[in-house]
Amino acid sequence: MRRLHLTTGGESHGPGLTALLTGLPAGLRVDFDLLTRDLARRQHGYGRGNRMKIEKDTAEIRGGVRGGETLGGPLVLWIANRDYTNWEPMMSPVKVDPRRAAQRRVHIPRPGHTDLPGGLKYLRDDLRDILERASARETTARVAAGAFAKMLLAEVGVEIRSGVRSLGPVGIDAPVPTWEDLLQVDETSPLRAIDRSLEEEMVRLVDRAQQEGDTLGGAVTVIAHRVPAGLGSHVQWDEKLDGRLAQAVMSIHAVKAVEIGAGLQGSAGFGSAAHDPIHRGPDGGFRRPSNHAGGLEGGITNGEDLVITAYKKPIATLRKGMPSVDRDTGEEKVSEYERSDVTALPAAGVIAESMVALVLADALLEKLGGDSVAELRAHFEATRAQQRAWAGSGHNTP
Ligand SMILES: Cc1cc2nc3c(=O)[nH]c(=O)nc-3n(C[C@H](O)[C@H](O)[C@H](O)COP(=O)(O)O)c2cc1C
Repeated sequence: MRRLHLTTGGESHGPGLTALLTGLPAGLRVDFDLLTRDLARRQHGYGRGNRMKIEKDTAEIRGGVRGGETLGGPLVLWIANRDYTNWEPMMSPVKVDPRRAAQRRVHIPRPGHTDLPGGLKYLRDDLRDILERASARETTARVAAGAFAKMLLAEVGVEIRSGVRSLGPVGIDAPVPTWEDLLQVDETSPLRAIDRSLEEEMVRLVDRAQQEGDTLGGAVTVIAHRVPAGLGSHVQWDEKLDGRLAQAVMSIHAVKAVEIGAGLQGSAGFGSAAHDPIHRGPDGGFRRPSNHAGGLEGGITNGEDLVITAYKKPIATLRKGMPSVDRDTGEEKVSEYERSDVTALPAAGVIAESMVALVLADALLEKLGGDSVAELRAHFEATRAQQRAWAGSGHNTP
């Protein structure tokens, strides 16, 4: 990211998680409800493990905010791990109990997780040293920081939503959702499915995976609505917003593919079906009757809804285990099981919203600048007026 920068710290069963977000302008009103709500949304979802029953995440603001307004300095957030009280003897930063730590030592790497490559890279004797940081618990810090990015975007009218598009094979052929589809998502439903008629079948599939000691993945779609045109740029490979969004969403644990708009479907047909015609709008501007491009052409937002889908592989920790090798003995063994989710798709949607919000907020600040929200808004209005004038004068140009 160019103007905003997020760094997170902390381990899954350590004392807690920190988010350090730099680059936010001063004068942003903190929406405490949004912060609390998004952290709760990240914990929700059918198929989560017992950990989510222990934690009730709340973010404490430890810097960058005074009286409910940002100051322009680094935002510092702290989310305590409630489970740390159970793990202190094994995870204390000061001293661990060797007997208790040995009981929780990990030496049979789980296929699909970070254990083996992380062990080879960091040469730790206990693979717990890898998995504690590799865990998606880290995304709690991302969601807390992402809530501030959403607050900034709301200043210029941008809204972000998500939903579960498919789970395993259920819903795999579902059409690319629209903003109106996402408005229908029931936040309290077990899986936050976009097509509610599929939800029962999805729940049954999660139950089956649970019974069989197996896991599931799927796809979540995020849409950002009322995104200003002109964010990102075509001029350099690392300025293209589609690439920046893909990197951010792909960085979410277990996400293995990212699609912009109807990218997959478009690649399988003719260009005439893939591209969105340009018509003259009623106010003299431009109108697009379809949005297969998902709001991005040439790495620049075109004023349509930004549509991005993340495809997540099934959870790596299987209760029934997977073939692996014990690093201590060299023997082939079945991987060990540690309390785990069967699926975490609804949470992945919330995390993807946060990553999209962070990238969009960064691109907005890059485009408009501003040390204060007041300045940003003034720049936004001026840019919008210039874009309107440009679009309206197009038909006079020879
Ligand atoms: C919200 C969320 C929850 C997750 N929960 C688990 C889990 O309980 N057990 C597990 O093995 N993997 C879980 N994962 C996936 C792993 O964190 C991920 O597979 C691992 O870090 C390896 O990274 P990679 O899959 O991106 O290569 C979760 C991912 C997300 C997004």
